[in-house]
Amino acid sequence: MTDTGPWWREAVTYEVYLRSFADADGDGLGDLAGARSRLPYLAGLGVDAVWLTPFYPSPDHDGGYDVSDHRAVDPRMGTLAELDGLIADAHRLGLRVVVDLVLNHVSSAHPWFTAARAAGPGAPERDRFHVRPGRGVAGELPPNGWRSIFGGPAWAPFGDGEWYLHLFDIEQPDLRHEHPEVAADAAATLRFWLDRGVDGVRFDAAGSLVKDPAYPELPAGWQAGDPSPYSDRDEVHEIYRRWARQLAAYPGDRLGVAETWGGPEVVGPYLRPDELGQAFAMDPLYWPLRPEPWRAGVDALLAATTRHGRLPAWVHGSHDVSRAAQRWGRDGARAMLLVMLALPGAVYLYAGDELGLPEVALADDEIRDPVFRRSGGQERGRDGARVPLPWTEGPAPYGFGPVGSTPWLPQPAGWGGFSVARQADDPASALALTRAALRLRERCWRGRPAEVAWRDAPPGCLAFRRGADGPTCLVNLGDVAIDPRPYGSVLLASAPVDGPTLPARSAAWLG
Ligand code: GLC
Repeated sequence: MTDTGPWWREAVTYEVYLRSFADADGDGLGDLAGARSRLPYLAGLGVDAVWLTPFYPSPDHDGGYDVSDHRAVDPRMGTLAELDGLIADAHRLGLRVVVDLVLNHVSSAHPWFTAARAAGPGAPERDRFHVRPGRGVAGELPPNGWRSIFGGPAWAPFGDGEWYLHLFDIEQPDLRHEHPEVAADAAATLRFWLDRGVDGVRFDAAGSLVKDPAYPELPAGWQAGDPSPYSDRDEVHEIYRRWARQLAAYPGDRLGVAETWGGPEVVGPYLRPDELGQAFAMDPLYWPLRPEPWRAGVDALLAATTRHGRLPAWVHGSHDVSRAAQRWGRDGARAMLLVMLALPGAVYLYAGDELGLPEVALADDEIRDPVFRRSGGQERGRDGARVPLPWTEGPAPYGFGPVGSTPWLPQPAGWGGFSVARQADDPASALALTRAALRLRERCWRGRPAEVAWRDAPPGCLAFRRGADGPTCLVNLGDVAIDPRPYGSVLLASAPVDGPTLPARSAAWLG
């Protein structure tokens, strides 16, 4: 028996981090025309969908996640007509398009916020935001001790005794979704992009939309993952139920995917039948490369999702974490690709990981990520995983933009060695492996039963089937080579199978 369902159920979605993907006009920032010109590459790679990171007008304090107009295109990124063209081309190539909706906060340059700032204490313009009087004699202290996810206090002063909440950068004031105008505007934004023909939307910072109106301090001993007054509260699900009804009113199984950060107990509730189709499974990014945490983690996520008739959305990489090759090592990243492509569910791949791009060590003055500044330089931030892609061998900017243009983040010397052009015809390349794995996934894995049946495996290894029979995914997370022959013949391996042995930290699909 095979599982069928909406297009996204087992889709592989490629995250186009727009600013770093392809720059058609030579201003150093990737853009819609650049992405559009590279769609044939993505279709050839064999992914099902592309997720475009924000292209809305933005002062760019947080790589476009600080939006000043949610229903327009930033002129640096292109035009609405260019986006329409991109969507049409993608559809012709058999690719779906998912756009990123940043509804938790706006840019400090958004007209609502400039009005709130100007209006003064107690003004109704401030009701759209989380605004509180400061503590202390004259309001000189923040309303509470909440910390921004990017570092530093989560409150910033207006300078008139009132403070506004920003869970992210100081230039990203959080919206108050209980306000009817905020709710109506979010619904209008969703409608706007669905009307434009996008196949899905990613809800950025999905769990943050509702805060405890009493703004209580975090309990003593609170740790990330504990219940929080501003994350994944029960009330947030009412909002997703509303948006799910909007999505369902459109033909063609439009996808809503929540950007969740958390374990099964966080992810599961977003997937209730009246909520969303997908919620990110980010935990595997941090599971130690040992069989036990993977077996237990996979089982728990599968249980939490399948109980609602959904499947996990495995995240292999993203613009918010270090490069897969950095996190898991070069071989580990390839092995994890095969694992995620074999597990039941959807998979999110991050642009450039198919090339095995390494994390880039940027100099202090090259870093743009607000995390670096707000953490007082304690954290390098995420730009090391956002260096513009190399398409050709040379000269710089390696086909990212026209010759002579200067990418917004510097590409290191030798970047062309990772380029698409260099890898395209090399059967041992990361690109060739990704392409082969995506082809074979169609044949071996997609639509197979949603259960993961673990098989006995040598120490340090994972082996599973989907259901009682079919191919086996064998993963060697250990330090020594193992003999894969008892499991079948090798269909695809993440590293060359050396004689009868599967090397350490590699994976294979066996038939
Ligand atoms: C999401 C985005 C991240 C951004 C943050 C604030 O986590 O993926 O890049 O910084 O939201 O919008």
